[in-house]
Amino acid sequence: MTTYRSVNPADLGDVVAEVPLRDAAGFVAACRAAKAAQPAWAAVPAPVRGQVIANLGRLVRANVDALAQLVTREIGKPITEARGEVQEIVDTCDFFLGEGRRLYGQTVPSEMPDKQLFTFRVPVGVAAIITAGNFPVAVPSWYLVPALLCGNAVVWKPAEYAAASAAALAELVRRSGVPDGVFDVVDADGEATFDGLSAALDAGLVDKVGFTGSSAVGSRIGELTGRHLQTPCLELGGKNPMVVAPDADLPLAVEGALFGGFGTAGQRCTSLGTAIVHESVYDSFVDSLDKALSDAVIGDPTRTDVLYGPLLADRFATRFEEYLGWIGDHHRVLGSGGRIGRIGPGNPRPGFAGDPAKGLYYHPVLVAGVRPDDALFSTETFGPIVGVLPYRDLDEAIALANAPGYGLSSSIYTNDPRSAFAFRAGVSAGMVSVNNSTSGAEAHLPFGGNGRSGNGSRQSGMWVLDQFTRWQAMNWDYSGRLQKAQMDTLSITADLEFRL
Ligand code: UN1
Repeated sequence: MTTYRSVNPADLGDVVAEVPLRDAAGFVAACRAAKAAQPAWAAVPAPVRGQVIANLGRLVRANVDALAQLVTREIGKPITEARGEVQEIVDTCDFFLGEGRRLYGQTVPSEMPDKQLFTFRVPVGVAAIITAGNFPVAVPSWYLVPALLCGNAVVWKPAEYAAASAAALAELVRRSGVPDGVFDVVDADGEATFDGLSAALDAGLVDKVGFTGSSAVGSRIGELTGRHLQTPCLELGGKNPMVVAPDADLPLAVEGALFGGFGTAGQRCTSLGTAIVHESVYDSFVDSLDKALSDAVIGDPTRTDVLYGPLLADRFATRFEEYLGWIGDHHRVLGSGGRIGRIGPGNPRPGFAGDPAKGLYYHPVLVAGVRPDDALFSTETFGPIVGVLPYRDLDEAIALANAPGYGLSSSIYTNDPRSAFAFRAGVSAGMVSVNNSTSGAEAHLPFGGNGRSGNGSRQSGMWVLDQFTRWQAMNWDYSGRLQKAQMDTLSITADLEFRL
């Protein structure tokens, strides 16, 4: 059995957890156990299942500090953001504990007398949930909480590099009263998970797949589930645009770009990719954002004053260095780029909080003058890098916002309602912010994207119920005779030739 070492990216000598990884057969075994346990869970009344969600919310609330500190230690997210992430689980539980007493179906009028029509939400069965580690506990809760509430069993495969945070959340889920077998965590690498998932689908042991991660893996999962006539819930990457209109509150826009582009070191799926700035304010926007970046404190994520800490894990640092290699001669680069304290003659960062040599710390980079044919413009670059380019009119800005073909979040800074609504109507994104950053969605609005960002599925709020339940229609005829729909229906006639 192989073992994964989850390491603190802010202090590479600190091993947070050593986790044994299961193979494909282990994944299948977990799905089989879930399949066996699910019917009894589905038979528990939804309001009673809601009590489990209420318990989970209380347990998470009581453990905010410990869980947030673990998230910070394991993936390097600044402690203030980690606390926000844990709060997002509490918010999700708050929403869904009430859904246990709602989970409404409808009574629908029939076209026949003595006949009633109804709809019911039915759990899908076993949900296999595969998540990334940039939000190691909040985003998983967006799946686990509604899936369990709706009466499904869940097999959760967290990111290896966030295994300890996942184990902590899993412990709280177990202690909230979920029966044995209804919920399991499988630590496994990507290929074992894919093989295990494929085998479990073949054996009829998985009924829904939820996946948060890259567009490339999302499309592999879409292919695999498609062969089994299933639609997965996919939450994929983003190249999220932010438009800065000529009438924008510029300091507010700069603040939004700073948080959206560089919060979480740019490693949110909602992180700002490209700022599309009206030519009349382009220079002042670039200068102000550059100044804000120079003034920002970067470093030790346990401090509350840092803009961002290290990258999540080694593999993200390696990939980010590749993206930095895409910067071309035609770009104007603001910021020194590269690893803090390591490259060139030390490559230091003034005001760095802590010891940069201990972790995976990278300089923030602003790339002015990106062009639509640049790889930097069209690819998600998960890291502290933001591109900027000018536009002339709103139609051009909208076309640029849509050009990369993603469609997760987006933002516009303007004080003109016509521009705000024209942008909303024209942008392909599933989420639109006006005078707010691309990241920071609230936990009860539909979250999800289109194009390279997903298959149109939505998480959060009442919308995610459609991922974890199927509608069942029921008709009940108590007339005592066969009433044939469409054929035996009374029809009302009228003189349609009549004119006033
Ligand atoms: C993610 O990066 O996968 O809207 C989710 C936000 C957070 C969630 C991000 N509430 O930025």
